[in-house]
Amino acid sequence: MDRLVEIETFSADEESIETSLRPDAWSEYIGQEQIKKNLSVFIEASKKRDEALDHVLFYGPPGLGKTTLALIIANEMNANIKVTAAPMIEKSGDLAAILTNLEEGDILFIDEIHRLSPAVEEILYSSMEDFRIDIIIGSGPAAQTVKIDLPRFTLIGATTRAGMLSNPLRDRFGMSFRMQFYSSLELSKIISQASIKLDKEIVNEASFEIAKRSRGTPRIALRLLRRVRDFAEVAEEFSIDHSRTKYALDQLGINSHGFDEMDIKLLKLLAAAKGRAMGLSTIAAALSEDEGTVEDVLEPYLIANGYLERTAKGRKATKNTYEVLNISITHEDGSLF
Ligand SMILES: Nc1ncnc2c1ncn2[C@@H]1O[C@H](COP(=O)(O)OP(=O)(O)OP(=O)(O)O)[C@@H](O)[C@H]1O
Ligand SMILES: [Mg+2]
Repeated sequence: MDRLVEIETFSADEESIETSLRPDAWSEYIGQEQIKKNLSVFIEASKKRDEALDHVLFYGPPGLGKTTLALIIANEMNANIKVTAAPMIEKSGDLAAILTNLEEGDILFIDEIHRLSPAVEEILYSSMEDFRIDIIIGSGPAAQTVKIDLPRFTLIGATTRAGMLSNPLRDRFGMSFRMQFYSSLELSKIISQASIKLDKEIVNEASFEIAKRSRGTPRIALRLLRRVRDFAEVAEEFSIDHSRTKYALDQLGINSHGFDEMDIKLLKLLAAAKGRAMGLSTIAAALSEDEGTVEDVLEPYLIANGYLERTAKGRKATKNTYEVLNISITHEDGSLF
């Protein structure tokens, strides 16, 4: 079965629906208040000075609205935005071609920026600082370096793994923002707003029910909303009510904390270790997932909500873990957890 709360992979169709639900103005962008407040100030200041905005980095788990923010910034700055992702920039020449095609004030958005190769990254950070790149033409003794001036552009980088960025690259961002998980109230607003766009309104109680089970993530909330809407449509209901929503979510196997099978598997694994820490590689192997997915997709929400603890020795279950799994357990030494 597809993981409904799976964040990374989704079909082209889902992606186009997601695009249509994407807010394009601040007023529709719910939550992340601190980021919004700061960004608005910096945007206004750079507009007043008639300068390009300083380079911006967004980091945090998938589906929290990084790409959306980049698009809103472009909108607010009245700037053109060129959207790309690190895996698409294989060679330094690819990046040089992108950079030399930019115009004054343009925004370059690079998603998954932690995945740039070192050679490409080096060109990128010199261009961020000096707005100039050195291109080597030819090879061997006849090789020549040509300096090319670039227009003042703004780089917006997004990553789920800030820790994997090299220091020189990270230092060249004038601002970096860590995305926060959303509260249920914020998510329920996002859901209600989207339901109007989808032409199938949802009652407050129902949007709250979806919100509670969305792992603090707008992308998941919107995906669940679409699935619940399918149930309501098949039942020929005019709007989405609470009982239909609960029924649909239960049918989809989303529990009341928003955990799916994978989360539960991970928590059970930790609980079975009875208070001992478990290494990332052991966890990944036991779940048949790669370590990156465990670290970037599964863990952040569990950690943020106190269901998992990351220690120097590895990952550990917490009191909440046992509570949510409804098991009482004792430590190795017999003391109660
Ligand atoms: N603050 C918000 N208000 C309203 N809708 C939002 C908000 N944040 C995200 N969304 C919605 O959630 C969806 C996912 O957001 P987005 O694609 O920007 O996430 P992301 O952080 O770029 O994810 P990834 O790391 O996978 O690239 C978008 O379709 C957008 O409509
Ligand atoms: Mg994105």
